[in-house]
Amino acid sequence: MPVISIDGSEEVFPCDGGDSLLRAGLRAGIGLPYECGTGSCGTCKFTLLSGAVEDLWPDAPGLNERDRRKQRKLACQSRPTGDCHIKMRIDAACVPHITPRRQGVKLVKSAPLTHDMHEFYFKSDLPAEFLPGQYALLRLPGVSGLRAYSMANLANESGDWNFYIKNMPGGAGSRILFAGGLPPGGDIELDGPYGLAYLRPSPRDIVCIAGGSGLSPMISIARAVAADAGYAARRLHFFHGGRQPRDICGEEILADLPDFSDRMRYHASISEPDPASRGWTGALGMVHEQVAPTLANPLADYEFYFAGPPAMAEAVQRMLMIDHKVPFEQLHFDRFF
Ligand code: FES
Repeated sequence: MPVISIDGSEEVFPCDGGDSLLRAGLRAGIGLPYECGTGSCGTCKFTLLSGAVEDLWPDAPGLNERDRRKQRKLACQSRPTGDCHIKMRIDAACVPHITPRRQGVKLVKSAPLTHDMHEFYFKSDLPAEFLPGQYALLRLPGVSGLRAYSMANLANESGDWNFYIKNMPGGAGSRILFAGGLPPGGDIELDGPYGLAYLRPSPRDIVCIAGGSGLSPMISIARAVAADAGYAARRLHFFHGGRQPRDICGEEILADLPDFSDRMRYHASISEPDPASRGWTGALGMVHEQVAPTLANPLADYEFYFAGPPAMAEAVQRMLMIDHKVPFEQLHFDRFF
């Protein structure tokens, strides 16, 4: 089995045949920096000093031309073919709290949430262990590479993994999940948990901002805030944005949580009202535009979690950091493109 060593560090870890360098390192408890785990964000770049790796996605968008000229690689898209010595930053903040593991899961059922988003229910034999806001990598039949989906439920002993997944036109994962390529009872491999945008203790009230299937991890965080007495003194503001009313859901899910009416607020907005939007009583505009006018305090008083399409996540980050000077440590998100 290939062994990986990191320049300037004592860390050495094995990488078994099926693993990428990133996933093997995280499994070994090493804080290798990453976000998406699927080749798009570029956070897991490294330099190969010796040895050889198989490049799982040569055109991955996580590398630009300059990176390629400098022979940089993505740890999440590199499978070692022998011992390797690499140069890569280690970040203690990336050490997994729960060691990711590969296991089989079975699709139990799916149910629609909106016109193009369904909740998919999977079950594992082992307990489902993850932190609110994390994601898992699913290996879908006939799809090359892994697909990252965030859990909407909470960790549980019964092995339930629930995901809100959007039907993306032309998407390989969607083709399988929404067109019956994986019938109920079908088995797939799940690898996880991954992700750094998980709920963490803080003295501040919490703001969740969701767009698209980014609703999934935000609902998980809201459920954890409601379930954990440690957050009983915290208020939660939940912003959900879509194009039209038919994209919006989630209030009913949150309304079922204990204390919803006392300390949680749900704010929905739509950005492209059409004639069918007549009767819409929520806000109009992009979801990031709703946050500052809605909240009573300066934004630096809150802890922010957000997930959604890349343009939304970038707009939220800009608004918080540049317009409102919210410290970066109070922003929690994983970049997917
Ligand atoms: Fe590797 Fe995002 S590109 S973690």
